[in-house]
Order: sequence, then C-alpha cells, then structure tokens
Amino acid sequence: MENDNDMDQSRLPIWEQVKKYQPKGRVWLHFPGHGGGFGLPAGEAAAAFAQVARLDLTELPELDDLHSPTGAIAEAEELAADVWHADKTYFLVNGSSAGVLAMVLAACGPGELILAPRNAHGSFYHALILSGAVPRYLPVAEQNGLTLNVTPKAVQEAFARYPQARALFLTSPGYNGICAQVAEIADIVRSYGALLLLDEAHGAHLGFSRSLPASAGHLADLRVQSWHKTLAALTPGAVLHQHGARINQHRLRSALQLVQTSSPSYPLLLSLDAVRREMALKGEAVADEMARKAAQLRFAIAKLLPLLTETELAPAGFRLDTTRVTVLTSEAGICSFTAARQLVKFGIDLELVQAGALLAVVGPGFQGKDVKRVVTALSSLTQQKPEKNKALPPLPQADVVLSPREAFYCLSRYVSLQDARGQIAAATVASYPPGMPLVAPGERITNDVITYIQEASRAGVCFRGLDGEGRIKICGAEK
Ligand SMILES: Cc1ncc(COP(=O)(O)O)c(C=O)c1O
Repeated sequence: MENDNDMDQSRLPIWEQVKKYQPKGRVWLHFPGHGGGFGLPAGEAAAAFAQVARLDLTELPELDDLHSPTGAIAEAEELAADVWHADKTYFLVNGSSAGVLAMVLAACGPGELILAPRNAHGSFYHALILSGAVPRYLPVAEQNGLTLNVTPKAVQEAFARYPQARALFLTSPGYNGICAQVAEIADIVRSYGALLLLDEAHGAHLGFSRSLPASAGHLADLRVQSWHKTLAALTPGAVLHQHGARINQHRLRSALQLVQTSSPSYPLLLSLDAVRREMALKGEAVADEMARKAAQLRFAIAKLLPLLTETELAPAGFRLDTTRVTVLTSEAGICSFTAARQLVKFGIDLELVQAGALLAVVGPGFQGKDVKRVVTALSSLTQQKPEKNKALPPLPQADVVLSPREAFYCLSRYVSLQDARGQIAAATVASYPPGMPLVAPGERITNDVITYIQEASRAGVCFRGLDGEGRIKICGAEK
C-alpha cells in the first residue's frame, strides 16, 4: 500500500510525548493511582506489568485528549489516515466493538432501516439497541457448515426490496478470512444513495501484500479494523477510518465519545502508533511474511487434513485471506471439538473451534518453526480418528417482530426453551465463538431456533445469552 505524500512516517508522535513524562523526577499528583508503577501492589502479577505502568499516563497538559485531539494523538491519527488512505482516522481504545457502535450511531437514527448479514458481530446487535435502527437481514452463503459471505446479488436484492435503507453493514473479511466483493457491493450501495459501513476487524493487514487479497475498504464511508487481531497492537487496539464526507464528522465524534472510556490507555495508543509506523515503513514485508508463513503451514497441514481453499470459494466470487487456515475436520471424519482438546494437550491453542472446522490464525507473531509442532499434533489426530461432529440443522431464519431497542426496553423474564416457543426474544442468543446470533432481541423464538439450540448444544457448541439453567430471556412481565 503506497502513501502518496511526504508525511514523515518514521515519527512516533505519541511516544515522543510520553517519553517526556516518565515518572522519575516528577511529582505525580494525578491519575492513575499507581503513580507510574510506584504504588503497584506487591507480588509477581503486579511486577509483570510494572514496565507498562511507566507508560500508563493520563491526559496531562502536554499529552493529548483522545476525544478532542490537537497534539500527539491528532498527529498520530493523521499519519495512520495517510497509510490507510482515509480522510480521517480515529484511534479506538475499546476495540472494533466500539467502532461498530459508533459507525451505526453516526449513520442511522431511530427507526431507520439498516441492511446487514446475519453473521454480523455481536457489537452490531448492540448498536441496533443503542441507535434504534431497524435491521433487515441479508442471506449469507454457506458451505461445509461455514458461513461464507454476502454476494453482490444478495445486496442488490435487499436494496430492491428496501430502497429506503439508510446503510449496509458489511463484514469483510469474515472470521474465516472469506472476503466479499466490496467494490461491487459499494457501487450498489451508492446507486441507492445509502451508506456503506464496513466491519474490517479482521482485515487491517490486507492491501499490503500481493500474495493476499486486496482491500477495497477505502470505498466504504466508515470502516473499523482491529489492529490487535491481525497486526501487532495491544488488545483491544483498533481504528475507525472515515472515507469521504457523507457522514457528519461531529456526529461521529459524539458517537465515539458516547461509547469509549474518558480515560484512554496510553500504552494502547502507543501500540497503535508503533504499528502504524511499522506498516508505513515495512508493511509489505510484514504482510508478505504473514502470507509466507501461512503458506508453509497450509502446505504442511494439507498433507494430513482438508483445508478451506480459495478454489472452492471462487465460483461464488469470494476471495480467501490465506492467513486464516480453516481445517475442515468434518470432511476427514474427525470431531472438531475433540480435535481442539487434543491439540491443547500438545500446547497448541487455536483461535476458533467451529462445528466441523478448526481455525488457526497466522499473525505477525507466528513462529515458522512451530509448523512442525502443529503437524506432529495433527498427525496424532489423523491416526486416532476420533468420532465425527454431529450434523447441525440449517441456521434459523430471523423473524423480526420488534426492533432490538424496543425488545431491550420491554419487561422481560427467563423461561425454559420449551416455554419460549413462539415468544419474542429479549436478548441475543449466540453460538460462541464467534458470536453469531441464532435469535436477536425482538425476534420470534421459532421451532427452528429451539431445535438449533438443542441440537447444537448436544453437538458441543457453546451459547451465550442463556442463563445458568439453559433458560432464555423473553419479552413480557413475570406472571
Ligand atoms: C467481525 C468482527 N467485528 C468486530 C469484532 C470486535 O472486535 P474487537 O475485539 O476489536 O472489539 C470482532 C471480534 O471478534 C469480529 O469478529
């Protein structure tokens, strides 16, 4: 990715300011209470973060204010905007989750329609509650039990049906690295005069290496990227990029204030600035190296087990970020949940265990030498051939009765799954990870929803949104 002006990308504005405020020789009469580490609790745990505590400053006069930056943070954000070709970049200290909330709040008002795929991240559903926007869901292609992505055809059909929709919320790439045709979709969105909000939480590294799919994210009005996911920022460092001026900047700024802490973490901001510098100066090398190590891992695993490849996705027009390595255990007759437990015994921790697949993520920190360990562990699996994953029913269709916001504010109670049949959900129930909702607030709890939860639980899928007794929250006062 080339930046086209002469900004000095070797600078680290936030670090330059933070260095001036190192606690030695200063009188600390402000937050945080640990005083630059001098007041940390005793013991190993606190000692482990003592170094970070030195950088853990508050908004001192010569530092900057994340919510109204004019100094180091403003400069750092401008440098980031230059690299990602944005008109404006906002650093996020509460993850892409906060960025998603702010995007929807800035784009949609109460009662306005927003189109979205059903597999949107949980924060999108929270954004609906906060904003009062009303969702209309797009079908998401499925294959091998994996949700793929949204096609331009599905977007076209949705806009033909709901031409008044204010925005499309799109996720690309998805968790498994499946990229939608963002450029084509952006054209459709524009032709309806709507806004494109892109959840690119998994895609900050795209566009730097020719070995990986390009990003058309600059065609969105707003897009979020979790730099802690695919780049080397501290958790939950993320950014929100604004492209063009179709969204009011003041409204966006207010939305960001609404959803983010008033005490932003300087270690986090520093890490964002350092990642920006690295990607500006060496982004191609970083992303090429990720692609190279991923290719090495893919090559080794493919000798043992089937992988999700771009060849299978191409007919539907999707591209694959190959740094996401999806092992299709179900095709090999191996249960993914059993397989993941086995891998943990070998010291191998994966990003995601799906019903029928395992997801390994190759980030900048993956050590190529560990490919051998993964192969050894997977070989033990293929020899043992544990039981298969139980087949899951198709994902239930959403039957939206109330807006998520109306449902959130209803009186509500917990009932058993059986008693919930036909009622309206007051909370999201999602398989976790990655958090895909089976039912969201305001939707009817159909037979299909209940069957899915029961069968998926038996198959080993975990759910968020049920209480300790497996009951579900419905709209309606206690009887
Ligand atoms: C598609 C997607 N969007 C947004 C998020 C939220 O990102 P963060 O963890 O940075 O808040 C996630 C988290 O997994 C995600 O998968």
